[in-house]
Amino acid sequence: MSGESGDVVRRERFSGGPARGFLSSMAADERIFEADLAVDRAHVVMLAEQGIVPEEEAGEILATLSEVEATGHDALPDGEDVHAAIETAVIDSIGPVGGKMHTARSRNDEVATCIRHRLREDLLEVLEATVAFREALVGAAEGQTETLLPGYTHLQPAQPTTVAHWLLSYEGAVARDTERLLDAYSRTNRCPLGAAAFAGTPFDIDRERTAELLGFESVLENSMDASSTRDFLLETVSALATLSTTLSGMAEDLILFSNKGYVELSDEYSSTSSIMPQKKNPDTLELVRATAGDASSGLNGLLTTLKGLPRAYNRDLQRATPHAWETVDAVREATDVAAGAVATAEWNEHQLEAAAGEGFSTATGVADALAMAGLPFRTAHELVALASEDASDYAALDAASEAVLGDPLAEYVPREAVEAALDPEASVASRDSQGGPAPEAVEETLAAAWDGIGADERAVDDLAEALGAAATALDEEVRSYE
Ligand code: ARG
Repeated sequence: MSGESGDVVRRERFSGGPARGFLSSMAADERIFEADLAVDRAHVVMLAEQGIVPEEEAGEILATLSEVEATGHDALPDGEDVHAAIETAVIDSIGPVGGKMHTARSRNDEVATCIRHRLREDLLEVLEATVAFREALVGAAEGQTETLLPGYTHLQPAQPTTVAHWLLSYEGAVARDTERLLDAYSRTNRCPLGAAAFAGTPFDIDRERTAELLGFESVLENSMDASSTRDFLLETVSALATLSTTLSGMAEDLILFSNKGYVELSDEYSSTSSIMPQKKNPDTLELVRATAGDASSGLNGLLTTLKGLPRAYNRDLQRATPHAWETVDAVREATDVAAGAVATAEWNEHQLEAAAGEGFSTATGVADALAMAGLPFRTAHELVALASEDASDYAALDAASEAVLGDPLAEYVPREAVEAALDPEASVASRDSQGGPAPEAVEETLAAAWDGIGADERAVDDLAEALGAAATALDEEVRSYE
């Protein structure tokens, strides 16, 4: 194929010289090779339907695109990018008529369409990963609604809760991550093709038709906006960075819990030391925690590259795209690993039960019990705070009552109510407010979580089906030119 002479776009004058490699996005473009072929096909079909390119010539071009697809990205001729290289391959194969493929478009609208086309698939994969992760969290929570867990604020023992309540706290967060990614999908799913360089085209093109052939939900209207915006990348990567922040927090919790012996990670999600034979380390979770760094650098890379770019297309945009691919890959993988680690972890119920009351974690519950008996909450808080300087038992509370109220505690609250509040299990059971840790409140959260997972699973399936149907329809359309 063309090799030495360069691609059809650059020819002799702009062969790139010493900056040839610097200008090229060929390696990174492998990711959009299939997308570019789909975009080429949809565009050529539309050109034929509109009578802009004769059907027979369109058929020749479409047949050649299939050959290009069969030989693959690595076999493409030299080119500045995948768009130029594929066009070169087509022209090399069938002659100048191949050059009709690029009628009424530019690489600017072409690349923008390719990125969106490919990103939809990546978004669907990461969406599936978030749903699977939520299934792992809720599945694990089902068996742990009564397993006590010390809850922390400021990493200090705060109030007892349960393992299920902790797991579902992450399910709630990842459900919102799913929501954000679905939102990003809906705005990625708009078609810029036909914007041309930025200023539209005099040809009588049908933008709705190419959008439909490529399975996009709508056309991105203003041609200057359509060819230059990368806000869909920002939105996607920002949703991924938010998800990775959720993941990193959960990884950190699990690392701490395994340090305290509350949980044991399965061997598959652990590693060991090359020198200390006894070691079992939570390395996979440390890597999940670190992925937040990748995502944050992807987001910053994008924001900084896009900031201050004038309208319309600028080559800076070529360097924006890889930030999105790198982030989506890193976060999807970390989500899968986090799901696996959660699904296979073993909770050490005895250790957890013993730890749940540590650090007078029931103090708030005791203050609540005194307030429920009629004491102002602030007075109850003062009384329990005074007792906690001494001990976390009834005797200390009684002494504090004498000091603060001038009477024994039993004058105000039945002793059994105080004893119950001092018991971590009873303390958890009493906190049955909506979304609270009491087992029956958690049962409701569990049911709602399964409903949400089911609904999101259907939403993701529908999107995947729509993409599949569009791809099949485009194939059929192309075959009708054979
Ligand atoms: N490889 C380029 C990119 O990724 C394609 C568009 C090039 N357009 C141009 N006018 N130089 O952005």
